Amino acid sequence: MSNATLYNTLDPAIEKRVDDLLAEMTLPEKVGQLVQKSPFGIVDWEVVIRKRQQAKTQGQPFSYQEAVSPEFEAHIREGRTGTVMCDDPQLANYLQRLAVESRLGIPLLVAADVIHGYRTTFPIPLAQACTWNPELVEQAERIAAAEASARGINWIFAPMVDIARDPRWGRIAEGSGEDPYLGCILAEARVRGFQSTRLETSRRVASCPKHYVAYGAAEAGRDYNTVDISERALRDVYLPPFRSAFDAGAGSTMSAFNDIGGIPASANPFTLRTILRDEWGWPGVVVSDYNAIGELVNHRVAADLKDAARLAILAGVDIDMESSAYEAHLAELVEEGSVPIAAVDEAVRRVLRLKFSLGLFDDPFTDETLAEKIILNEDFRAHALEVARQSMVLLKNESNLLPLPKEKIRVAVVGPLADNQCELLGTWASAGRAEDVETILQGIRAYLPELSIRNVQGCSLYGAEEDFSEAVAAARDADVVILAIGEGADLSGEAHSRAHLGLPGRQQELADALAATGKPLVAVLLCGRPLVIPRLVEQADALLVTWHGGIRAGQAVADILFGTCNPSGRLAVSWPRAEGQIPVYYAQKSTGRPAEGSGTTQFHEPFRSTYLDESNSPAFCFGYGLGYTRFMYADLKVETPSVSLDGTLVVSATIENTGRQTGTETVQLYIRDVLASVTRPVKELKGFRRATLQPGESQRVRFEVPVRELGFIGPEMRYIIEPGSFKVWIGSDSGRGLEGQFEV
Ligand code: GLC
Repeated sequence: MSNATLYNTLDPAIEKRVDDLLAEMTLPEKVGQLVQKSPFGIVDWEVVIRKRQQAKTQGQPFSYQEAVSPEFEAHIREGRTGTVMCDDPQLANYLQRLAVESRLGIPLLVAADVIHGYRTTFPIPLAQACTWNPELVEQAERIAAAEASARGINWIFAPMVDIARDPRWGRIAEGSGEDPYLGCILAEARVRGFQSTRLETSRRVASCPKHYVAYGAAEAGRDYNTVDISERALRDVYLPPFRSAFDAGAGSTMSAFNDIGGIPASANPFTLRTILRDEWGWPGVVVSDYNAIGELVNHRVAADLKDAARLAILAGVDIDMESSAYEAHLAELVEEGSVPIAAVDEAVRRVLRLKFSLGLFDDPFTDETLAEKIILNEDFRAHALEVARQSMVLLKNESNLLPLPKEKIRVAVVGPLADNQCELLGTWASAGRAEDVETILQGIRAYLPELSIRNVQGCSLYGAEEDFSEAVAAARDADVVILAIGEGADLSGEAHSRAHLGLPGRQQELADALAATGKPLVAVLLCGRPLVIPRLVEQADALLVTWHGGIRAGQAVADILFGTCNPSGRLAVSWPRAEGQIPVYYAQKSTGRPAEGSGTTQFHEPFRSTYLDESNSPAFCFGYGLGYTRFMYADLKVETPSVSLDGTLVVSATIENTGRQTGTETVQLYIRDVLASVTRPVKELKGFRRATLQPGESQRVRFEVPVRELGFIGPEMRYIIEPGSFKVWIGSDSGRGLEGQFEV
């Protein structure tokens, strides 16, 4: 059975086993399958640590026997919990043994968040999106699944596929950026990776694309805030990555915290039933986000937890993550007739189907010896380096300051992130450890003799009082300054929205002081989101965005700075000039008063959709990134100047490496629907290709785009393709390219 059908199609043999089992289940046992509990709070970790230590010194096998609270043991033994969050193979096996001792022996789903690697920590997902390399990302997720599986995990709460166009939102770090096309391709790649049937453990893991749906459209970029978007935006922008994830075989999804136009996502029959089940026919499991059912009371649509349970089960949420609403009230709701047993049976059926598809009834246990053999192995670490290299985006490189020479150069390595480990892990680093991280300073030391390097921190990440004098002195003695600054991981991720997107603390003043020395300045920027850094962009001669690059970031940065690696990263999200522009993204609508120029203001174009005090254009546009060579585009050819509704657009261009280094260009294809029955974006990404060319080498890059992919949600809220004129561009980013046109 292929990966794509593993969890989301109906296998008659499995359906029969589900039917037979469901027929035997009591109501409390059915409710138990819809309850998720995490061992935090039920396992006395103090006891675990002490008992483990004792067992180690006495050479005895360790058991969780006394560490798990008796009531939790009873809970599992009586089948009153179907899923636990846990990433310890011994504990997972202990809990599975309790579960299979239950009357019907239904094994547990063992879940964990594995967002960008389990112990081998890759760059944050937003950084991975900047590789524009689905195969690379897929392999990273396969590695993450292999390590997680070795730790007893069989259900991963990832990939996060929320489209995000607002860098104030801390969770922009966890997704694939602003564009649905790139987001769909990476959602598929991530699901394929997680659900690979070739894990070193020979076991399988189910993915859980999240957060269903439109969580990234939170008003004002404030986490958990209201989402109020049109159904058209929902269907054109926010739903497609979920559809792609499900088409790639995802076995579950997670309903989000936010409301959507007044109806919370975790009690929303339109998104959870009409779209998910009626329109898409997807049979997978919906798990709520953490206590999202309980939070229906805070949304003030549920009078109490019992009412919340009723709303959620009727809307189509199958598993209640941690709110206790189902555990406390679902049976009562059925017995009093408020909830039909059919609604419960339907949910239980989906959960059992997932457990059978995962093979858990045949063997729920984890080989506890595998973890130490698999985790953090050299192949996995090598892949983390390659992903880090390809994820970094060179935004500026005045007079080709980079790459730096490897000899006869004195560098001042300055900044609070130059020799830092833990911040490079980024947000949601799962089991990642700071001790595994190579720092940027270590990476540089591998290239230059110690005498050529002077390292001064210069300031702290967030400190208020700083003395820059030592850093300035080091800069004065150096030929070039490498300044490693940016955000700590703690400013990124869930519940970490920022209203001001500048450099934290006194880092910008440190950059000012260093720039004042007149020495060439290479800014290495670590962040979980685009930052508003107009002064640094001016001051830096070279600007390399490394994001939070994971355990191999240090070497990746040095490989790029010293030219071993020719940077190929391209922005997967627009880079704002000012917070006031947000949301700023390339696929804007024309409006009734479009600004003709991109860098203009009201003074240039009065009464146009512009600002008085800032241009419309981002500091750096979607798809942008520099390298150490040059690529020239020529001879665009629309091979199908007129194409039928069921036809395929074919367009090509020649790309030539006119520089002196081998390099990889991400050739991008954009279209514009010139005239349509609803307002359409000025540009839409519809294809991209990574091309690696030797100096002087040229390549004809050809795109084939089925016309069915050029449709949109029409006035009747249905996906339609309209005949008419289109423009097409092939270029290096969303801001430029060779232009052509064609008729559908
Ligand atoms: C968190 C996150 C979600 C995560 C879940 C379980 O609040 O919103 O992404 O999977 O809880 O940890």
